[in-house]
Amino acid sequence: MFLNLKDIILLLHPILACTFVFPVIGITTFLALQTRQRRLKDTTSIPATVGHLHVKLGKLLAAGVVGITLVALAYSVVFGFQGFLMQAENNALQPLSVVLVVLMFVVTIAATVFLYRAQSKIWRGVFALLSGMGVTILAFQPGVFRRDDEWWISHFYFGLASVMLMIFSVAIVHDIYQDRSLRWRRIHMGLNALVLVLFLLQGITGTRDLLEIPLSWQAPVVYQCNFDPRSPQFKTCP
Ligand code: HEM
Ligand code: HEM
Repeated sequence: MFLNLKDIILLLHPILACTFVFPVIGITTFLALQTRQRRLKDTTSIPATVGHLHVKLGKLLAAGVVGITLVALAYSVVFGFQGFLMQAENNALQPLSVVLVVLMFVVTIAATVFLYRAQSKIWRGVFALLSGMGVTILAFQPGVFRRDDEWWISHFYFGLASVMLMIFSVAIVHDIYQDRSLRWRRIHMGLNALVLVLFLLQGITGTRDLLEIPLSWQAPVVYQCNFDPRSPQFKTCP
Protein backbone atom coordinates (compact mmCIF):
# COMPACT_ATOMS: atom_id res chain seq x y z
CA MET A 1 0.00 0.00 0.00
CA PHE A 2 1.52 3.33 -1.10
CA LEU A 3 -0.79 5.43 1.10
CA ASN A 4 -0.03 6.70 4.59
CA LEU A 5 -2.83 7.66 7.00
CA LYS A 6 -2.47 11.33 5.96
CA ASP A 7 -3.02 10.39 2.29
CA ILE A 8 -6.09 8.34 3.16
CA ILE A 9 -7.60 11.26 5.09
CA LEU A 10 -6.88 13.52 2.08
CA LEU A 11 -8.80 11.08 -0.11
CA LEU A 12 -11.97 11.18 2.07
CA HIS A 13 -13.20 14.40 0.44
CA PRO A 14 -12.81 13.31 -3.22
CA ILE A 15 -14.21 9.84 -2.38
CA LEU A 16 -17.36 11.34 -0.81
CA ALA A 17 -17.69 13.78 -3.74
CA CYS A 18 -17.50 11.01 -6.36
CA THR A 19 -19.54 8.32 -4.61
CA PHE A 20 -22.18 10.45 -2.89
CA VAL A 21 -22.41 14.10 -4.00
CA PHE A 22 -22.14 13.67 -7.78
CA PRO A 23 -24.75 10.87 -8.03
CA VAL A 24 -27.13 12.99 -5.92
CA ILE A 25 -26.49 15.97 -8.27
CA GLY A 26 -27.66 13.74 -11.14
CA ILE A 27 -30.86 12.61 -9.42
CA THR A 28 -31.68 16.13 -8.14
CA THR A 29 -31.23 17.60 -11.61
CA PHE A 30 -33.35 14.90 -13.27
CA LEU A 31 -36.15 15.54 -10.74
CA ALA A 32 -35.76 19.32 -11.23
CA LEU A 33 -36.38 18.94 -14.97
CA GLN A 34 -39.36 16.66 -14.30
CA THR A 35 -40.78 19.18 -11.81
CA ARG A 36 -40.52 21.95 -14.38
CA GLN A 37 -41.99 19.85 -17.18
CA ARG A 38 -44.90 18.78 -15.01
CA ARG A 39 -45.64 22.35 -13.93
CA LEU A 40 -45.46 23.70 -17.48
CA LYS A 41 -47.22 21.05 -19.56
CA ASP A 42 -47.19 17.35 -18.73
CA THR A 43 -49.40 16.54 -15.74
CA THR A 44 -50.49 13.14 -17.03
CA SER A 45 -47.34 11.00 -17.41
CA ILE A 46 -45.17 12.70 -14.74
CA PRO A 47 -46.20 11.84 -11.14
CA ALA A 48 -47.19 14.64 -8.76
CA THR A 49 -44.46 13.56 -6.32
CA VAL A 50 -41.50 14.81 -8.44
CA GLY A 51 -41.49 18.29 -6.85
CA HIS A 52 -41.44 16.85 -3.34
CA LEU A 53 -38.73 14.34 -4.30
CA HIS A 54 -36.60 17.08 -5.88
CA VAL A 55 -36.70 19.06 -2.63
CA LYS A 56 -35.88 15.95 -0.57
CA LEU A 57 -32.85 15.14 -2.76
CA GLY A 58 -31.93 18.84 -2.94
CA LYS A 59 -31.74 19.00 0.86
CA LEU A 60 -29.55 15.89 0.87
CA LEU A 61 -27.35 17.43 -1.83
CA ALA A 62 -26.90 20.71 0.06
CA ALA A 63 -26.01 18.82 3.26
CA GLY A 64 -23.56 16.67 1.27
CA VAL A 65 -21.84 19.69 -0.31
CA VAL A 66 -21.49 21.46 3.05
CA GLY A 67 -20.32 18.16 4.61
CA ILE A 68 -17.58 17.33 2.08
CA THR A 69 -16.37 20.92 2.17
CA LEU A 70 -15.96 20.75 5.96
CA VAL A 71 -14.08 17.44 5.54
CA ALA A 72 -11.67 19.09 3.04
CA LEU A 73 -11.21 22.12 5.28
CA ALA A 74 -10.61 19.94 8.37
CA TYR A 75 -7.86 18.11 6.45
CA SER A 76 -6.29 21.37 5.29
CA VAL A 77 -6.26 23.24 8.61
CA VAL A 78 -4.47 20.26 10.20
CA PHE A 79 -2.24 18.85 7.44
CA GLY A 80 -2.03 21.74 4.93
CA PHE A 81 0.95 24.02 4.29
CA GLN A 82 1.25 26.17 7.47
CA GLY A 83 -1.60 24.18 9.04
CA PHE A 84 -1.66 23.07 12.67
CA LEU A 85 0.91 20.25 12.28
CA MET A 86 3.42 22.51 10.54
CA GLN A 87 2.85 25.25 13.15
CA ALA A 88 3.48 22.67 15.91
CA GLU A 89 6.73 21.56 14.23
CA ASN A 90 7.90 25.19 14.20
CA ASN A 91 6.78 25.69 17.84
CA ALA A 92 4.37 28.37 16.61
CA LEU A 93 1.09 26.60 17.37
CA GLN A 94 -1.26 28.57 19.60
CA PRO A 95 -3.69 26.33 21.52
CA LEU A 96 -6.29 29.10 21.47
CA SER A 97 -6.41 29.10 17.66
CA VAL A 98 -7.00 25.31 17.70
CA VAL A 99 -9.86 25.76 20.19
CA LEU A 100 -11.38 28.58 18.09
CA VAL A 101 -11.22 26.54 14.87
CA VAL A 102 -12.81 23.49 16.55
CA LEU A 103 -15.51 25.77 17.97
CA MET A 104 -16.09 27.23 14.50
CA PHE A 105 -16.64 23.73 13.08
CA VAL A 106 -19.19 23.02 15.84
CA VAL A 107 -21.01 26.34 15.28
CA THR A 108 -21.11 25.81 11.49
CA ILE A 109 -22.50 22.27 11.76
CA ALA A 110 -25.06 23.36 14.39
CA ALA A 111 -26.15 26.37 12.29
CA THR A 112 -26.63 24.11 9.24
CA VAL A 113 -28.71 21.62 11.27
CA PHE A 114 -30.86 24.46 12.67
CA LEU A 115 -31.27 25.91 9.15
CA TYR A 116 -32.94 22.64 8.13
CA ARG A 117 -35.27 22.79 11.15
CA ALA A 118 -36.15 26.49 11.12
CA GLN A 119 -39.65 27.40 9.94
CA SER A 120 -39.85 31.17 10.17
CA LYS A 121 -38.25 33.41 7.59
CA ILE A 122 -36.13 35.29 10.11
CA TRP A 123 -34.55 32.15 11.66
CA ARG A 124 -33.86 30.61 8.27
CA GLY A 125 -32.07 33.85 7.36
CA VAL A 126 -30.11 33.88 10.61
CA PHE A 127 -28.98 30.24 10.39
CA ALA A 128 -28.17 30.47 6.67
CA LEU A 129 -26.01 33.50 7.43
CA LEU A 130 -24.28 31.74 10.35
CA SER A 131 -23.70 28.58 8.33
CA GLY A 132 -22.29 30.51 5.36
CA MET A 133 -20.14 32.70 7.59
CA GLY A 134 -18.81 29.65 9.45
CA VAL A 135 -17.73 27.93 6.22
CA THR A 136 -16.14 31.16 4.96
CA ILE A 137 -14.21 31.82 8.18
CA LEU A 138 -12.91 28.22 8.21
CA ALA A 139 -12.06 28.47 4.51
CA PHE A 140 -9.70 31.40 5.14
CA GLN A 141 -7.68 29.71 7.89
CA PRO A 142 -3.96 28.99 7.37
CA GLY A 143 -3.34 25.62 5.73
CA VAL A 144 -6.11 25.93 3.14
CA PHE A 145 -4.75 26.08 -0.41
CA ARG A 146 -6.73 28.74 -2.27
CA ARG A 147 -4.82 29.35 -5.50
CA ASP A 148 -5.31 33.12 -5.05
CA ASP A 149 -3.05 34.03 -7.98
CA GLU A 150 -5.14 31.88 -10.34
CA TRP A 151 -8.57 32.31 -8.70
CA TRP A 152 -10.35 31.79 -12.04
CA ILE A 153 -9.29 28.15 -12.09
CA SER A 154 -9.41 27.64 -8.32
CA HIS A 155 -11.17 24.59 -6.85
CA PHE A 156 -11.38 26.56 -3.62
CA TYR A 157 -13.28 29.62 -4.91
CA PHE A 158 -15.70 27.66 -7.15
CA GLY A 159 -16.28 25.30 -4.21
CA LEU A 160 -16.97 28.12 -1.77
CA ALA A 161 -19.41 29.73 -4.25
CA SER A 162 -21.31 26.44 -4.73
CA VAL A 163 -21.56 25.91 -0.96
CA MET A 164 -23.04 29.40 -0.50
CA LEU A 165 -25.59 28.82 -3.26
CA MET A 166 -26.60 25.44 -1.79
CA ILE A 167 -27.16 27.03 1.63
CA PHE A 168 -29.22 29.77 -0.07
CA SER A 169 -31.35 27.13 -1.85
CA VAL A 170 -32.23 25.49 1.46
CA ALA A 171 -33.00 28.89 3.01
CA ILE A 172 -35.56 29.83 0.31
CA VAL A 173 -37.50 26.53 -0.01
CA HIS A 174 -40.62 27.99 1.70
CA ASP A 175 -40.39 31.19 -0.34
CA ILE A 176 -40.42 29.20 -3.60
CA TYR A 177 -43.69 27.55 -2.55
CA GLN A 178 -45.36 30.64 -1.11
CA ASP A 179 -44.53 33.07 -3.91
CA ARG A 180 -47.32 33.14 -6.52
CA SER A 181 -45.40 35.52 -8.79
CA LEU A 182 -42.71 32.80 -9.42
CA ARG A 183 -39.97 35.28 -8.55
CA TRP A 184 -38.21 33.00 -6.05
CA ARG A 185 -38.70 30.01 -8.35
CA ARG A 186 -36.95 31.88 -11.16
CA ILE A 187 -34.16 33.06 -8.89
CA HIS A 188 -33.74 29.45 -7.72
CA MET A 189 -33.56 28.11 -11.29
CA GLY A 190 -31.09 30.78 -12.43
CA LEU A 191 -28.75 30.33 -9.47
CA ASN A 192 -28.86 26.54 -9.64
CA ALA A 193 -28.14 26.51 -13.37
CA LEU A 194 -24.97 28.36 -12.34
CA VAL A 195 -24.39 25.82 -9.55
CA LEU A 196 -24.47 22.99 -12.11
CA VAL A 197 -21.66 24.73 -14.03
CA LEU A 198 -19.75 25.20 -10.76
CA PHE A 199 -20.16 21.48 -9.94
CA LEU A 200 -18.79 20.60 -13.36
CA LEU A 201 -15.81 22.88 -12.70
CA GLN A 202 -15.37 21.24 -9.26
CA GLY A 203 -15.09 17.86 -10.96
CA ILE A 204 -12.42 19.23 -13.32
CA THR A 205 -10.39 21.32 -10.87
CA GLY A 206 -10.69 18.68 -8.10
CA THR A 207 -9.22 15.87 -10.20
CA ARG A 208 -6.45 18.25 -11.34
CA ASP A 209 -5.64 19.14 -7.71
CA LEU A 210 -5.58 15.46 -6.77
CA LEU A 211 -3.01 14.81 -9.48
CA GLU A 212 -0.86 17.74 -8.35
CA ILE A 213 -0.67 16.72 -4.66
CA PRO A 214 2.21 14.26 -4.03
CA LEU A 215 1.90 11.24 -1.71
CA SER A 216 3.05 12.28 1.79
CA TRP A 217 6.32 10.28 1.69
CA GLN A 218 7.18 11.63 -1.78
CA ALA A 219 6.41 15.26 -0.81
CA PRO A 220 9.89 16.18 0.57
CA VAL A 221 11.46 15.27 -2.78
CA VAL A 222 8.70 16.67 -5.01
CA TYR A 223 8.67 20.04 -3.19
CA GLN A 224 12.34 20.52 -4.07
CA CYS A 225 11.18 21.02 -7.65
CA ASN A 226 10.70 24.53 -9.02
CA PHE A 227 7.06 25.74 -8.91
CA ASP A 228 7.77 29.41 -9.67
CA PRO A 229 6.54 30.42 -13.18
CA ARG A 230 8.87 33.48 -13.20
CA SER A 231 11.97 31.37 -12.66
CA PRO A 232 14.01 30.09 -15.65
CA GLN A 233 14.14 26.71 -13.83
CA PHE A 234 10.30 26.51 -13.73
CA LYS A 235 9.02 22.89 -13.87
CA THR A 236 12.44 21.35 -13.28
CA CYS A 237 13.59 19.17 -10.38
CA PRO A 238 17.05 18.77 -8.85
C1 HEM B 1 -28.58 20.68 -8.77
C2 HEM B 1 -29.16 21.66 -8.15
C3 HEM B 1 -30.56 22.13 -8.45
C4 HEM B 1 -31.15 22.44 -9.64
C5 HEM B 1 -30.49 22.40 -11.02
C6 HEM B 1 -32.51 22.83 -9.36
C7 HEM B 1 -33.44 23.24 -10.31
C8 HEM B 1 -34.79 23.35 -10.09
C9 HEM B 1 -35.79 23.48 -11.13
C10 HEM B 1 -35.52 23.55 -12.64
C11 HEM B 1 -37.01 23.52 -10.52
C12 HEM B 1 -38.38 23.58 -11.21
C13 HEM B 1 -38.83 24.99 -11.35
C14 HEM B 1 -40.13 25.08 -12.08
O1 HEM B 1 -41.15 24.75 -11.48
O2 HEM B 1 -40.09 25.48 -13.25
C15 HEM B 1 -36.79 23.46 -9.10
C16 HEM B 1 -37.76 23.48 -8.14
C17 HEM B 1 -37.52 23.52 -6.79
N1 HEM B 1 -36.30 23.38 -6.18
FE1 HEM B 1 -34.53 23.07 -7.08
N2 HEM B 1 -32.73 22.77 -8.02
C18 HEM B 1 -31.57 22.34 -7.43
C19 HEM B 1 -31.36 22.16 -6.07
C20 HEM B 1 -32.26 22.44 -5.10
C21 HEM B 1 -31.98 22.47 -3.69
C22 HEM B 1 -30.61 22.21 -3.05
C23 HEM B 1 -33.14 22.82 -3.06
C24 HEM B 1 -33.36 23.02 -1.59
C25 HEM B 1 -33.32 22.09 -0.73
C26 HEM B 1 -34.17 22.99 -4.07
C27 HEM B 1 -35.49 23.37 -3.83
C28 HEM B 1 -36.48 23.48 -4.81
C29 HEM B 1 -37.88 23.71 -4.53
C30 HEM B 1 -38.53 23.90 -3.15
C31 HEM B 1 -38.55 23.71 -5.78
C32 HEM B 1 -40.05 23.80 -6.02
C33 HEM B 1 -40.55 22.37 -6.15
C34 HEM B 1 -42.04 22.23 -6.45
O3 HEM B 1 -42.56 22.97 -7.27
O4 HEM B 1 -42.65 21.32 -5.85
N3 HEM B 1 -33.60 22.76 -5.29
N4 HEM B 1 -35.42 23.35 -8.87
C1 HEM C 1 -19.34 19.47 -5.29
C2 HEM C 1 -18.13 19.10 -5.35
C3 HEM C 1 -16.97 19.66 -4.59
C4 HEM C 1 -16.90 20.75 -3.75
C5 HEM C 1 -18.01 21.72 -3.33
C6 HEM C 1 -15.53 20.83 -3.29
C7 HEM C 1 -15.04 21.82 -2.45
C8 HEM C 1 -13.75 21.88 -1.99
C9 HEM C 1 -13.24 22.91 -1.14
C10 HEM C 1 -14.03 24.14 -0.64
C11 HEM C 1 -11.95 22.60 -0.86
C12 HEM C 1 -11.10 23.39 0.10
C13 HEM C 1 -9.77 23.74 -0.32
C14 HEM C 1 -8.77 23.15 0.63
O1 HEM C 1 -9.14 22.67 1.70
O2 HEM C 1 -7.61 23.14 0.29
C15 HEM C 1 -11.61 21.38 -1.57
C16 HEM C 1 -10.38 20.74 -1.56
C17 HEM C 1 -10.04 19.68 -2.36
N1 HEM C 1 -10.88 19.00 -3.22
FE1 HEM C 1 -12.82 19.39 -3.52
N2 HEM C 1 -14.80 19.81 -3.87
C18 HEM C 1 -15.65 19.07 -4.66
C19 HEM C 1 -15.32 17.98 -5.43
C20 HEM C 1 -14.07 17.43 -5.55
C21 HEM C 1 -13.71 16.34 -6.43
C22 HEM C 1 -14.67 15.63 -7.38
C23 HEM C 1 -12.38 16.10 -6.24
C24 HEM C 1 -11.46 15.09 -6.91
C25 HEM C 1 -11.83 14.01 -7.49
C26 HEM C 1 -11.90 17.03 -5.25
C27 HEM C 1 -10.59 17.12 -4.78
C28 HEM C 1 -10.14 18.01 -3.84
C29 HEM C 1 -8.77 18.06 -3.35
C30 HEM C 1 -7.64 17.13 -3.79
C31 HEM C 1 -8.72 19.09 -2.44
C32 HEM C 1 -7.50 19.59 -1.65
C33 HEM C 1 -7.21 18.73 -0.47
C34 HEM C 1 -8.12 18.89 0.68
O3 HEM C 1 -8.18 19.98 1.23
O4 HEM C 1 -8.79 17.89 1.09
N3 HEM C 1 -12.96 17.84 -4.85
N4 HEM C 1 -12.73 20.96 -2.25
